[in-house]
Amino acid sequence: MPITRRQALQLGMLGGLGVVVGGVGLSQTGLPWLAPSTSSAGAGGESLVEPEVVRSRDGVLRVELVATRRETTIAGQRARVLTYNGTVPGQTWRVQPGDRIEVRLRNELDTPTNLHTHGLAVSPRDNGDNPFVSIDPGQVFDYRFDLPEDHPPGVSWYHPHRHGTVADQLFGGLYGALIVEGDRVPVSRERVLVVSDISLTGDGQIVPVAAPEVMMGREGNLVLVNGQHRPQLSARPGQRERWRVINACTSRYLRLALPGQHLELLGIDTGRELTPREVQEVLLAPGNRADLLVSMRAGSSELRTLGYDRGGMGMMGGGGLSGPGTLATLAVTGAEAAAPGPVPDRLAVPDLREKSVAGRREIAFTMTMGSMMGPGRGMMDPGFDGRAFDADRIDQRVSVGGVEEWLITNPTPMDHPFHLHVWPMQLVETGGQPVREVTRRDVVNVPARGRVRVLVDFARHPGRSVYHCHILDHEDAGMMASVEVG
Ligand code: C2O
Ligand code: CU
Repeated sequence: MPITRRQALQLGMLGGLGVVVGGVGLSQTGLPWLAPSTSSAGAGGESLVEPEVVRSRDGVLRVELVATRRETTIAGQRARVLTYNGTVPGQTWRVQPGDRIEVRLRNELDTPTNLHTHGLAVSPRDNGDNPFVSIDPGQVFDYRFDLPEDHPPGVSWYHPHRHGTVADQLFGGLYGALIVEGDRVPVSRERVLVVSDISLTGDGQIVPVAAPEVMMGREGNLVLVNGQHRPQLSARPGQRERWRVINACTSRYLRLALPGQHLELLGIDTGRELTPREVQEVLLAPGNRADLLVSMRAGSSELRTLGYDRGGMGMMGGGGLSGPGTLATLAVTGAEAAAPGPVPDRLAVPDLREKSVAGRREIAFTMTMGSMMGPGRGMMDPGFDGRAFDADRIDQRVSVGGVEEWLITNPTPMDHPFHLHVWPMQLVETGGQPVREVTRRDVVNVPARGRVRVLVDFARHPGRSVYHCHILDHEDAGMMASVEVG
């Protein structure tokens, strides 16, 4: 049974008890990353480094991906992190619609892994994006992802997806950007900003998750941009840059702002579907991406996250405040640059509301009373519709070819980001209000005690995949379910 707010209150789980004060608790990690760093590195001194780029050639992107532990330096500190090919983040992959991506993944970790191309609408069959694959330590697996010719351009990313090890592996450093090109916006330069967080011990080990943290999902005490702590960016006034920002944090919400600069949103997740409009801030739930235009004005600015209260479980597991802080600094100096040409029209996306609805279903995020005290278990078990993930069970059977309307409800006292693999969603209602903009999303935040309505395009890609909470500690604890499309 899902637990209601009333039951929670009766159990003394909510309200001003324990670590939750006035509904806003501090995460267990506190906010040390806010304090101005006094160490030489990490105090905003390092210039932002872009991950190495690999591009498709003649319609194919071929990558050898080695997941391996490496020693590196983060915020001036020695760090033994998890890497793809030795770097955090991994290389940025750039492909075109219609391309094939071939990945040979070698697992040199000590836990099983696999690969998910988050944001690609590709078949889960034929060694495609299959979250059920498990690659043991020492094993190699050959992936193949075929992008349809009409695959939408946008900001995607790749990361491991082996149920039970996802949060640890992302928290440790395994992620990379995957850009599907094909929409040109004249800009002075383009940047990829992969935002993640991590906690390190004094001797550079990754801090393992503590059992109570699973309830809210862990947040690291260092927030990184491209694996760097508070890097510095520089530009000239008048330049226009395109920023592809990925929230690769396992649980942290980002409310991005760049005070003093002119920021326009082109799209969320798949990108450039919105008429570019000036924004003051952009909310990225874990897993979301933003496609942004920044028109540079002279002066210095900070790329900040403003802080987001994602609810809490009271005594059952603390509160979930994704704290405010500075992600990077931006210095805009020098002679005024010539402005790039005008921004072309947005990409039109077919409105799924014009299609007939082939099926309706309701899906609920649930935190059920669990095995109260077992080792490594929380007191509440995260799941969907009262059940934890079971790879041998099919939770939703859908006929290929149609559009379905899914109502996703969240009776729990905390936000959960809903992520569906493979099949694109159009958000049509949130907070009881219709959404007018026509966009494709693959992560939709469902606020605490709230609900959203999405239309899902099942036009193609038969096969089996999953939906899950993108607070990855929740996913690993069972907040995932399977969909069979056929
Ligand atoms: Cu980014 Cu199923 O995950
Ligand atoms: Cu969740």
